[in-house]
Amino acid sequence: MCGIVGYIGNQEAVPILLKGLKKLEYRGYDSAGIAVQGKMGLVVRKAKGLIKNLEEKISAESKNADEFCGFAGIGHTRWATHGEPSDVNSHPQTDASGKIAVVHNGIIENHGKLKEWLLSKGVTFQSETDTEAVANLIGFYYRGDLLQAVMEAVGRLEGSWGLGIICADEPDRIIAVRKESPLVVGIGKGENLIASDVPALLEYTREVYYLEDREIAVLFKDHVDFYSDEGQVIQKEKTHIEWDAASAEKGGYEHFMLKEIHEQPKALTDTLRPRLTAADTGGARKINLDEIGFDASWAQASRVVITACGTAWHAGVIGKYAFEHFARIPVDVDVASEFRYRDPILNPKDIFIIISQSGETADTLAAMRMAKKGGARIIAITNVVGSTLAREADLVMYTWAGPEIAVASTKAFTTQLMCLNLIALQFGVLRGVIKSAQLNEYINALEAIPAQAEKILKGKENIQRFASQQFNKGKVFFMGRLFDYAASLESALKLKEISYTHSEAFAAGELKHGPIALVDTSTLVVALCTQSKLFDKMESSITQVKARGAAVAVITYEDSDRFNNIADEVFRIPRTDDSLSPILSVIPAQLFAYYCAVQRGLDPDKPRNLAKSVTVE
Ligand code: G6P
Repeated sequence: MCGIVGYIGNQEAVPILLKGLKKLEYRGYDSAGIAVQGKMGLVVRKAKGLIKNLEEKISAESKNADEFCGFAGIGHTRWATHGEPSDVNSHPQTDASGKIAVVHNGIIENHGKLKEWLLSKGVTFQSETDTEAVANLIGFYYRGDLLQAVMEAVGRLEGSWGLGIICADEPDRIIAVRKESPLVVGIGKGENLIASDVPALLEYTREVYYLEDREIAVLFKDHVDFYSDEGQVIQKEKTHIEWDAASAEKGGYEHFMLKEIHEQPKALTDTLRPRLTAADTGGARKINLDEIGFDASWAQASRVVITACGTAWHAGVIGKYAFEHFARIPVDVDVASEFRYRDPILNPKDIFIIISQSGETADTLAAMRMAKKGGARIIAITNVVGSTLAREADLVMYTWAGPEIAVASTKAFTTQLMCLNLIALQFGVLRGVIKSAQLNEYINALEAIPAQAEKILKGKENIQRFASQQFNKGKVFFMGRLFDYAASLESALKLKEISYTHSEAFAAGELKHGPIALVDTSTLVVALCTQSKLFDKMESSITQVKARGAAVAVITYEDSDRFNNIADEVFRIPRTDDSLSPILSVIPAQLFAYYCAVQRGLDPDKPRNLAKSVTVE
């Protein structure tokens, strides 16, 4: 996720672009850049870090007033995907001639092949970004008609993109085009703008067009033309924005957490899709982890150790179940702060999977360094390109969740699960545990998950209603077995973090070994029931807590009526393979935690005493 702005009109573009970028900084903040069409032609300024670094660079590098000013330009604030945050990898990216500049939000999945092809034609590259391939492709097709070149280039792209494009030879226009990454066109008086989100436009206009997939907008200062991907002129309907600036930043949601919960279908698709071979190429589907350098040697490990903190550790617990199930390999999972001070037994044949949304958690990094010292090889799962974890690990698999602003992790967690499932399945294939037909079934199940997540989100009112009845409960217990136990850990953490409700999770089989002593009429028990072979056992645990006066909510499959008669409330999730269910079953729990916090009058985005990234011990 990155932020794009573009301006063309009668005003000085640079200050408008900078202001717009600041409004979009929540979409990415590792580097920023601007390209402007001015008296000196097309000029680009870029800087690693926050937008203020770019501002400083612009004032330091523009010695005379004319050097970096003009009435048309594009800007970008980056959340790195391909290539670490650096000046050269920042956007705008230009083609080899320096005449075409591009800002991009999304992932070009076939950028490697495009780059290879362009290199074979003698085109040169400077950055590690996927975006540079787009700029060079447009440059390659440019024969004096930017729109034509953009259409030809975009026709060859695979993946997702929101693009803003300018060309030194056609300074009177900006072109915008998108697929699966948002772009809004703002209509002003004698000026027009593009942005990847409304907040960047609100100061100038409330009249916008939402660009649909593959539509193209050509912005001039006094009008905008819209085209289909085949170049036919299309008519679009204008939208008037009613939101205030603060809610616009959250995409109309009341809080970032709710927005991020809703971003999960997209984040899951982005994390999954580039790692699968295409469905339309014929033959059996495969998981492709070449991009991260994962080869057969990794699957020869004698043991996998997963280490992390907080939510990422919960992902690790689920990962253990997944690895054992899919790949039949021994797995230890460890809280990083314990691991680093224990006397762990390390073996050079171990593979460590270190999970961290931020890639900067102090305990997690210390655990990784210890494992490395012990000779183990490291796979990192992180959301931040160029983070310390990403830099120091042997292999990195990114969660393509985009920046997570709310302290409580949601989309980072489910995308971590997606990565773990992909690695575990690939281990299973390489170790001969999973055969091709079975893999196909798992791939189908994984591909169904984003739409299934969307379906759960559509039923959120039910959860909201339930939260409005239960938010004052003295204690809430989450219980389940196997994958459901692991998902219960994360569900309880969400509720505790943001609603300050005393909540705990336990393996349902442990009920009789302690937790049941605490169950009374003030207790809510949330039973996660997706492990079909253990439904009888879950039914018995539920009966026991009901007998002690607890209220019971069950999270189970929509096609099962098994728990209807014993639960006070049933939340339904679409059917999936039992071993993949946590990605879905945690979503009702996230929503429940969110709505409880809101009912209690708390700010779920900024829970007391907690920090997003814990870089000290
Ligand atoms: C903090 C955050 C949690 C997060 C944990 C680990 O406690 O509040 O949401 O799960 O750190 O963070 P990491 O960035 O390593 O995943």
